Amino acid sequence: MKARAKINLTLEVFDRRADGYHDLRSLVVPISFADEVSLRPADEVTLHVTEAVSGVADWIGPTANNLAVRAAQLMQRVSGRTEGVLIDLVKRIPIGSGLGGGSADAAAVLHGLNDLWRLDISDDELAGLAAELGSDVPAQTLGGLVLMTGRGEHVTREAVSMSILHLVLVFPGAFVSTAEVYAHCVPQLTNGGQIVDNMRHALSGGEAEAVAAALYNGLSPAAESLCREIARARAALRAAGALGVSMSGSGSCVFGLARDAADAQRVAKNLAGMGLTAFPVHTCPVM
Ligand code: C5P
Repeated sequence: MKARAKINLTLEVFDRRADGYHDLRSLVVPISFADEVSLRPADEVTLHVTEAVSGVADWIGPTANNLAVRAAQLMQRVSGRTEGVLIDLVKRIPIGSGLGGGSADAAAVLHGLNDLWRLDISDDELAGLAAELGSDVPAQTLGGLVLMTGRGEHVTREAVSMSILHLVLVFPGAFVSTAEVYAHCVPQLTNGGQIVDNMRHALSGGEAEAVAAALYNGLSPAAESLCREIARARAALRAAGALGVSMSGSGSCVFGLARDAADAQRVAKNLAGMGLTAFPVHTCPVM
């Protein structure tokens, strides 16, 4: 299975809640940049990681905390099954990039075990179960263009049809902690819905310029104040010719919107000339 990264087209952050999380509202969409997950029947839940890009799994941490492993344990608990599974993970999405790599792996395991064990759990139910694994897992389990609210546990697939967007990802080579970015964020006071409506309108119109103008991430000021490289990557994307630039999640990955696939290649080449690692990708709005 492909475990697709996501980007946040919009991300608004509201009040901090009693449980320490922030209420948010975000439009997320899967992209063509992905890890690969294979599942094989096994006695125990085990994880085998291969790096698709050298160094990408450096921060992956202990297996017990891995979201893909926790997803398999969750499916054991929900189904009452006692057998395990061997999770073969080819890691391409950098840890701590804001692209939801760990969440994508977990979502792939939820879907994969649902099929392998013939559990017949609906996508909506799987997304509901996913909330206990992390704030981004429900949206990535549902897939497609999704509006997430609450701390991420409320997810709905958007009815708006969107054309494929061509983007360039830039990894600034530095990482920021999600908890630290949220702690430094100044929450938005109004909750008017205008930011999401602007993006929906731009997506249905299909003009890349309008989508570029509607990009929004309320965590950017906090992330950029904690990590100068993010601001530098943003400026470089602009200088390389991107129509609009935003950050994904809590960073550190920054993405720029391009007119089409050829334009994305051109922007990525300009960035490589500036010594930055850049990947041309596109959105995958339909599952
Ligand atoms: O849920 P996840 O593990 O991705 O969240 C990591 C951290 O980010 C949380 O511990 C919390 O500090 C912060 N966070 C938040 N509000 C959210 C999501 C995450 O404050 N909606």
